[in-house]
Amino acid sequence: MRESSSVWHPNTQMSEWKDFPEIVRGNGVYLIDNEGKKMIDGVSSMWCNVWGHSKKELINAIITQTKKIQHSPMFNLTNEPSEKLAKKLVKIAPGMNHVFYSDNGSSAMEIAIKISIQYWINKKIKNKNKIATLVNGYHGDTIGSMSVGYVPEFFSKFKSQLFSSIRFSVPNTYRIPRKYSEKEYEQKCLEKIEKKLSEDEKIAAFIMESGAQVAGGVIIYPTGFQERISKICKKNGVLFVLDEIATGFGRLGSMVEYTNQKSIPDIVSFGKMMTGGYLTMAATLTSNKIYDAFLGEFNERKHLFHGHTYTGNPIAASVANKNLELYEKYKLISKIKKTSEIFQKYYDEFMKLDFVGDVRHKGMLMGIELVSNKKKKSPVTSKTSINKLFFEEGRRNGIYLRTLGNIVMIVPPLAISENDLTALLDRAVDTIKNVKFKKSM
Ligand SMILES: Cc1ncc(COP(=O)(O)O)c(C=O)c1O
Repeated sequence: MRESSSVWHPNTQMSEWKDFPEIVRGNGVYLIDNEGKKMIDGVSSMWCNVWGHSKKELINAIITQTKKIQHSPMFNLTNEPSEKLAKKLVKIAPGMNHVFYSDNGSSAMEIAIKISIQYWINKKIKNKNKIATLVNGYHGDTIGSMSVGYVPEFFSKFKSQLFSSIRFSVPNTYRIPRKYSEKEYEQKCLEKIEKKLSEDEKIAAFIMESGAQVAGGVIIYPTGFQERISKICKKNGVLFVLDEIATGFGRLGSMVEYTNQKSIPDIVSFGKMMTGGYLTMAATLTSNKIYDAFLGEFNERKHLFHGHTYTGNPIAASVANKNLELYEKYKLISKIKKTSEIFQKYYDEFMKLDFVGDVRHKGMLMGIELVSNKKKKSPVTSKTSINKLFFEEGRRNGIYLRTLGNIVMIVPPLAISENDLTALLDRAVDTIKNVKFKKSM
């Protein structure tokens, strides 16, 4: 452990934490602290780790590039690893032709928003600047990304400073309004989207997470939902923008989730797992149609007004290139299809526990929703943060957990072995059993 110091931790009530486990090493799926205690990384270090920790090939890619050039900017210059990576990315992402690099997912989404707005200005279409999105989406913590991804629990303090976007309900199978069947409610949500998009010519883009809302509570879209939205956008001249930062690169079982959802975007963002979870890098990809609208004479001022110091960092790009090579070498996507079946076997085991209201799973992502009353579906509440209760109990059981509100997230490194995943899920069952809430059923 290490006493809390000058470091201010993210999304943390610092007064709850006297000290933190100090991670000094990583080995495969294990995080190891300064007291030698090992925990299975049950959230893949915030949903980004692919191969486990200390993977030799990835470390070597970093070392090799570090010896050549550590950072050179993309302003007036380019570098080989970023060029190579862009070629690979447009190959795995059908319909995409160009790559704009940044260094975290929130920035990648800010860029997607800015491209969407400037696109219509460049096309000389006036006042087409509204953003449509889904209730409870999450696209990052910066002002723009919060504006399009409003999760009340995280963002309410900043509401007055966020720009407004048009939000549509998402069919959450656990919380369908009583009078509707799942299918009817989904249809109703889509009808509302279709009506608004066909009427409001000022809508520039529809922005949504691809395949599922993750931070908003692991809401997995019904089959065909995303495809319909993409068609509605195409029909009504609205840009379709997808966020695959948490769901792409195999998290939901496909390399690129939008192909699985049969929906081709105009713009898509990737991040998190792009570097295998080793360095910070994200990317915003666009089709030729979008990119071409930014071309012209310099004096027309059509170029994209955006750039970051570390855009296209060569070390991050090198490790991302190696990461993608490993996906092919170890046939990771086929492996995930098999490993993910293990999650499903635990469905009943979780569901029968006190406080577990719903279990949602796709690919290598599982969300376990905790309720204080299974019939009323009221979310559990706690004086000490639920996250802290679960973190401490998880640690006693040898697993690293980070909950989101009342959702226990199980998001392991993608290449986790079947044995390690079984151990993680067994220990998660024990953790949920042993966490002490006051039962109010
Ligand atoms: C879907 C989605 N978009 C964007 C982000 C923001 O990424 P970052 O934390 O790298 O800024 C996240 C982070 O969890 C995310 O889940």
